[in-house]
Amino acid sequence: MSRVVYVNGKFLAEEEAKISVFDRGFLFADGVYEVTTVLDGKLVDFKSHTIRLKRSLNEITMKAACSDEELLNIHQKLIKANDLEEGCIYLQVTRGVADRNFEYPDDKIPSTLIAFTKKQGIINQPLVERGAKIITVEDLRWGRRDIKTVQLLFPSMAKMEAKSKGADDAWLVNAGKVNEGTSNNAYIVTQDNVIVTRHLSNTILHGITRVAILKCARSLNLTVEERPFSIEEAQNAKEAFVSSSTLCICPVIEIDGQMIGDGKPGVIAQRLREVYIEEAKKSAT
Ligand code: PDD
Repeated sequence: MSRVVYVNGKFLAEEEAKISVFDRGFLFADGVYEVTTVLDGKLVDFKSHTIRLKRSLNEITMKAACSDEELLNIHQKLIKANDLEEGCIYLQVTRGVADRNFEYPDDKIPSTLIAFTKKQGIINQPLVERGAKIITVEDLRWGRRDIKTVQLLFPSMAKMEAKSKGADDAWLVNAGKVNEGTSNNAYIVTQDNVIVTRHLSNTILHGITRVAILKCARSLNLTVEERPFSIEEAQNAKEAFVSSSTLCICPVIEIDGQMIGDGKPGVIAQRLREVYIEEAKKSAT
């Protein structure tokens, strides 16, 4: 059965949904996006996603596409129309349709706003149960990774490189220090049970799940250090894991062929995942 998707004010069957060949999202990757998790038919951390969306838009000097209330309404209607219990909603805003020129078109041109649902298991995921094998890849993305833009070709290339080497995903590194995963934030747990993850800057995406997880870690009396860590430190860590809206937390069991701990999903990562999901369900709207 086809999905109902949202395109510029209309809810349509996915086969009917069309975008212009002149859309700047298509020609220049001139747009930003958000992915919000749905658990029990409710949105997880929706307010934080709207705040980050506005920040991304602001950073590329685009106006808000619509009000927060309209955004919430679009999300809730899509959940209902697609009978979505568990999965996510993808939302994309681009600078709209204009003849191909490098300079931005007049800002009176309406932006393009699309959204669609994806049904997928969030609570039960085979990869989370097994734990992910990671390779490290030099981070060749642009320098504004704090903006959630739709230019995702390099992360896609890095993920394909991981797959071709029998791994599940890649961690992107500069000068031997881990920035983040292709589509997730990266963490290690030291032998003293300290949670380490890279501090916020233009180097990484400011993950919504990251904020929630650090809060859960502190509620479990775990020490958190926000600082760069090296590939070697990660390989010698007690545990490693990644976080994103769709994975929540996924344990990492191998980095560049080196087993982490005993090669099984770590106890702390699993406990954090439980606490995170409990809190996410409680606060979902
Ligand atoms: N990716 N880092 C990068 C590069 C990401 O693309 C993502 C999210 C994250 C985690 O952010 P959050 O916790 O807000 O989901 C970190 C989404 C899920 C995606 O592109 O599908």
